[in-house]
Parts: sequence; C-alpha cells; structure tokens
Amino acid sequence: MSNYHNPVMLQECIDGLDIKPNGVYVDVTFGGGGHSREILKNLGKDGKLVAFDQDVDAQANTIDDERFELVDQNFKYLKNFCRLHGAVPADGILADLGVSSHQFDKAERGFSTRFDADLDMRMDQGASQTAKDVINGYSEAELHRIFGMYGEVQNAKTLARTIVTARLNNPINTIADLKSAIAVLLPRGKENKYLAQVFQALRIEVNQELEALQEFLQQSVDVLAVGGRLVVMSYHSLEDRLVKSFIAKGKFSGELEKDLYGNDQKPFEAVSRGAITASEEEIKNNNRARSAKLRIAVKK
Ligand SMILES: C[S@@+](CC[C@H](N)C(=O)[O-])C[C@H]1O[C@@H](n2cnc3c(N)ncnc32)[C@H](O)[C@@H]1O
Repeated sequence: MSNYHNPVMLQECIDGLDIKPNGVYVDVTFGGGGHSREILKNLGKDGKLVAFDQDVDAQANTIDDERFELVDQNFKYLKNFCRLHGAVPADGILADLGVSSHQFDKAERGFSTRFDADLDMRMDQGASQTAKDVINGYSEAELHRIFGMYGEVQNAKTLARTIVTARLNNPINTIADLKSAIAVLLPRGKENKYLAQVFQALRIEVNQELEALQEFLQQSVDVLAVGGRLVVMSYHSLEDRLVKSFIAKGKFSGELEKDLYGNDQKPFEAVSRGAITASEEEIKNNNRARSAKLRIAVKK
C-alpha cells in the first residue's frame, strides 16, 4: 500500500509496542495499513489487532486475516468500540496522527494547496462540517482564533478580516477562491509556507483534531492493561505538546499532582526520554518523516 501511504518510523513503532505474540493491540489510524501489517507479522495465532479509521477510503486496504478487524469510527470513541470488539484490556495502542498521503494527494479531498477543488478537508466524508462551512460561516473572531492557534499565522487577525470582507461579495467555495481572496497577504517568497499554515488551521478545525486526540488519550488509560504500551506519533507541535503533557502529568495543563505520600498521580511512565525522531536516511526517502515525533509510554 505504499501508494496510499508510506508508513513512518515503522520499526520504531513496532519496538515501542513491545509486542507479545498473544497480545491484543489497537491501531487507531489504519490508513494504508502499513503499521497494522507489521503488527500482525509480530503476532502469533492467538493475537488480535483492532484498527480504526474514520475515512471510508481506508476500508479498501483492509487485511484479510482472522486476527484482524477494521472499525470505521473516529478514535475519539476508542473505549466504546474497543469494548464492543473485545479489545479491552489491550496490550498496546498505536496512533499515527494526521492525514495520510492518500488524503493529501487526492485533489478532490481539498487538503492540498497544490490542487484546485472544493474546500472540503473532511477525513470522515460523512461528517457535516467542511472547510467551506468554516470559511464562510465562522465569525471574524472565530477565524482569528483558529488561524492564530492552529496555524500559528502571524497576521491571523488581518487574515480573518480579509476573508470576512471577501466573502461579502461572493462565497469562498474552492481552494482557488481562497487563494485569490488572500493573495494580497501572501509573503513574497514564502507563499507556500503561509498557505500551508492556513490549510493546517482549517484542517485541524474541520476535523476537530485536538479534541479527538484529547478524548483518545484520556480513554487510552481505561483501555490499556497495566504494563500496556501507548505509542503516539504526531506531526505538529500542538499535537506533540498534548501527548507529552498527558504522558508526563496525566492531563493537558497544570502541574503534576501527588497523593498524600508524595507519589506521582499519573497513569503513564514515559519509556523514552524526549521524543524519538526519524533517521536521516528515512527522512531522505520520505519527506513526511521529517516532522514526525514519536512518544512511547507504559501504563502504570
Ligand atoms: C497518517 S495516516 C496513518 C497511516 C498508517 N499508519 C499507515 O501506515 O498507512 C492517519 C490515518 O488516520 C485517520 N485518522 C485521523 N484522525 C482520525 C480519527 N480521529 N479517528 C479515526 N481515524 C483517524 C486518517 O483518516 C488517516 O487515514
């Protein structure tokens, strides 16, 4: 499935899961199934793997193996669907966040600045809100917030104002419409970087990516067995910050809490110090690996 998606840090993820041959594993971001196939190779005949993907396109990559099941759901419902599919307690959970190359390279999905298409950007094609709805329906203040927070766009306020003014004349329906509406703001020589930040912000908002990640991390505590592994790979700092904080403190903000005896009150212990990054060799062959950060933790 290398056309669909080339799996990042495959061996590092497998090592992180520390697979027991008869264990129960969950891959919450199936995509092209690269990581799932490798997990199955490491499982014995009594092992089990349950995978999630909210994109119906991923179904085409399903694996014909009686140890495997693919659930077409958002991983924010991790606990319920793991229960339903007999994957609680699990020995390991893998998350490889964000969009797949397939989603990014398919023009009509609207994720890439390289093409013209409707402003869609839904990973789950059945979801109700598209990027078009965000661009045309959000208030100036809401747009300012998402471009500033999720895109780290420097002039997010001006960008929001420009969009709101442009849409008074005509709705902004396509990637080309959006590019033309904000053309005056694109910094010379850094047009692509700026557009990538704008698109990242829209994508995160359309798919409620940070909310889903927080739900997932919180529920992973109840799904994993004691000693089970949590392996999460993220591609931008907003996600990595949430993962890092949750592993270190069991929450997304504030200080680590201690009990009466001074013991840390947190569900996970980090396995590696800091985040693991891809080798230079891998980055040379797969540009997507450049921004990947892998964190591994064990449930206490
Ligand atoms: C980076 S790709 C995973 C690639 C996969 N590891 C492989 O080797 O092919 C991320 C996949 O996760 C899915 N995804 C992202 N967020 C999700 C969520 N909240 N719930 C379910 N699936 C999600 C996307 O649809 C996409 O197919």
